[in-house]
Amino acid sequence: MVDLNNPEALSAMDSTGYFAALAELGTQCRNAYMLGRETRVPAVADLSTVVVTGLGGSAIGGDLLRVYCQERLRVPVTVNRDYTLPAFVGKKTLVFAVSYSGNTEETLSAYQQAREKGATIVALTSGGKLAALAAADGVPVIRVPAGLAPRAATGYLFIPMLAVLEGLGMLDGIEAEVEELARELAHYATTYGLGSPVAQNPAKQLALNFKGRLPIIWGASGTTEVVAQRWKGQINENAKAPAYWNAFPELNHNEIVGFEEPAELIRQLWVVILRDKGDHVRVGYRMEITRRVIEGKVAGVTEVTSTGEGMLARLYSLIYLGDWASVYLAMLYGIDPGPVKVIDYLKGELAKR
Ligand code: F6R
Repeated sequence: MVDLNNPEALSAMDSTGYFAALAELGTQCRNAYMLGRETRVPAVADLSTVVVTGLGGSAIGGDLLRVYCQERLRVPVTVNRDYTLPAFVGKKTLVFAVSYSGNTEETLSAYQQAREKGATIVALTSGGKLAALAAADGVPVIRVPAGLAPRAATGYLFIPMLAVLEGLGMLDGIEAEVEELARELAHYATTYGLGSPVAQNPAKQLALNFKGRLPIIWGASGTTEVVAQRWKGQINENAKAPAYWNAFPELNHNEIVGFEEPAELIRQLWVVILRDKGDHVRVGYRMEITRRVIEGKVAGVTEVTSTGEGMLARLYSLIYLGDWASVYLAMLYGIDPGPVKVIDYLKGELAKR
């Protein structure tokens, strides 16, 4: 098994430069904000909804936007992970069509539907068919740098949307929040980074706890739910391992009952509870009680609380820990975190039909 205290050995297993992309996430967020600010988007008369359409690493930015805007925007943000758009999409809708590659078929199909429905569209992509279509249609394109895994481009696939909404006068204070976020990420890049030894590195410690076990990630509705979802996806795609997520308070009404059988499987679960100062006070109590219910049954429980002031910094302080932990978990399994051959295979097979 690879030694997590040996940075050279870890780097040697990372064929796509995943560690470097992670270390630069703070700078990516700053650049992403500028790209969004530079994009001219026409105001939508009588705007009723914002829809983000995308899949996988290009959809999670939509969930971040939804959670971020929940208490800040007077219109709802919904995330669409499908070929088709909901019936409510029309002339009063602002649609962000997000695909890092620009070639994801579901997103291209939803983009065409948004055109047919007369929605105002913004394309967010590094190129591909989406960039070409949008350019031909006169649709604004936020063009982000290519060459990353979509899931490593979370700054590029989220922050420009905030900047656009700020430019439209729907949000404010984003620039200052992005600045705080970039500073926090630069700080954590050292704490979680390759050179930080296991004894001082919570990301490496988490990976060791996850190894050989099934990670269960719990967040809270309206705050860390999106972080829990992100951790799950990152463990799946980077470590090529299963993981599951859920959110309080809903999980108190079903999932929490399912910790009796099969006992030998439950002993292999490692539960993470993600906390944030924006959580409802009673959700905080629920987390404490729930922890007592499962402790002794599962392999272990880790509680992590977000840091920072603004919501962006707070959410990303947790996302970043999960990102690093998932890459260290990949290493512990002897896996190269970057390539996702199964997704490539699926897209290739679909392209033949
Ligand atoms: C790969 C990844 C995937 C892709 C998804 C959609 O790193 O994260 O989840 O994001 O297959 O592809 P794009 O983002 O190119 O539209």
